[in-house]
Amino acid sequence: MSNALYSLTPEHEMIRNTARDFAQKEIAPIAAEFDESGEFPYETVKKMGEMGLMGIEVPEEYGGAGMDTLSYVLALEEICKVDAAHGVIMSVNNSLYCYGILRFGAEEQKKKFLTPIASGKSIGAYSLTEPMSGSDAGAMRSQARRDGDDYILNGRKSWVTSAPVAGYIVVFMLTDPEKKHRGITAFIVEADRPGFTRGKKEPKLGIRASATSEILFEDYRLPAANRLGEEGDGFKIAMTVLDAGRIGIASQALGISEAAYEASIAYAQEREAFGQKIGQFQGIGFKIADMKTRIEASRLLVYNAAMAKERSKTTGERFTLEASMAKLFAAETSMFCAHAAVQIHGGMGYSKELPIERYFRDAKITEIYEGTSEIQRLVIARNELGLK
Ligand code: CAA
Repeated sequence: MSNALYSLTPEHEMIRNTARDFAQKEIAPIAAEFDESGEFPYETVKKMGEMGLMGIEVPEEYGGAGMDTLSYVLALEEICKVDAAHGVIMSVNNSLYCYGILRFGAEEQKKKFLTPIASGKSIGAYSLTEPMSGSDAGAMRSQARRDGDDYILNGRKSWVTSAPVAGYIVVFMLTDPEKKHRGITAFIVEADRPGFTRGKKEPKLGIRASATSEILFEDYRLPAANRLGEEGDGFKIAMTVLDAGRIGIASQALGISEAAYEASIAYAQEREAFGQKIGQFQGIGFKIADMKTRIEASRLLVYNAAMAKERSKTTGERFTLEASMAKLFAAETSMFCAHAAVQIHGGMGYSKELPIERYFRDAKITEIYEGTSEIQRLVIARNELGLK
């Protein structure tokens, strides 16, 4: 494939190859076992931290690798091609946690709260959703009340990726309920303080080695120095950070699609039926053609969104549209490709002996978290129509 719309530097090639080698050597042999058990893969995640993969865009002075957004998506794509569960741990750490603090944090906050997470010594998470507010994020109920130099947090947040293992979590709560979304504030929560508890782990269909749970706050006291941005800035911070997060999930979806595609090619070239390779049947060949075309279209959208985010670092311009289009298309492509891969593999696609059924289970979440496909369509349509 020519890469006319984007060009990769030797640095990009290097991080892609490094992530690919690591994923194939260290993650591929354990992915099925951790998917089955639902255990968190501490060892491999720790190694990813040591390699700089947990804070790719974070400057080296705060413990990161100091690389650009395209480097981040190239590395994430390679990890997800082998295991989407490792991928979401990496994506949340890099975009939902590190990016928000890098973009909105004060100098002291960057030093204190980025360094351990970007270097992989601890794990970061992001918590917006509540049991009664998912897509309608502004309808949250959890509240933080100012008390002298502290805030006191109360409430229940749900579906928090990495919550069972996280040391630090960026949490959004109402500080002024009258003002609705303009009364939301962001906090950097430290998980080792009293009043914070983790709920039971969600038993999930896919990305099973990643850990997800509720978190509960009961008179949890936090210094005002842990507030991210000003009071009332929280909703905009949450949305800006999700724009970055959505590029990560789009890269995850791209990686899953490629894995499903490559397995399908190999199987269609080998497997015989009715006296010929099944790839010689038009019914299989057309599936391969559609998979390939959609994957390459996803890639262009994902890399384009990464480049838009990179530009935003100097221009300050939003990359909401690019991120939503990339996530929408790459997520639906991953579901399409995983579905086709199961069908091409027939019974073997349905068996746990091959990773195809795992790709199928993992692909589905990319259409749901960090904004469902319906929410991405809403964001894109509002952007284009200028209407609400
Ligand atoms: N960047 C900056 N500001 C933004 C923004 C963005 N991308 N999107 C909206 N805003 C601003 C608007 O300009 C507006 O500002 P004003 O108050 O100044 O007018 C304000 O935010 C409110 O915007 P809307 O009126 O558009 O808000 P809304 O209530 O209609 O909701 C929405 C918009 C797009 C539907 C939003 O609620 C949304 O994205 N919902 C999905 C939430 C989501 O993705 N949740 C996933 C959580 S993370 C997760 O999945 C778990 C995990 O751990 C991985």
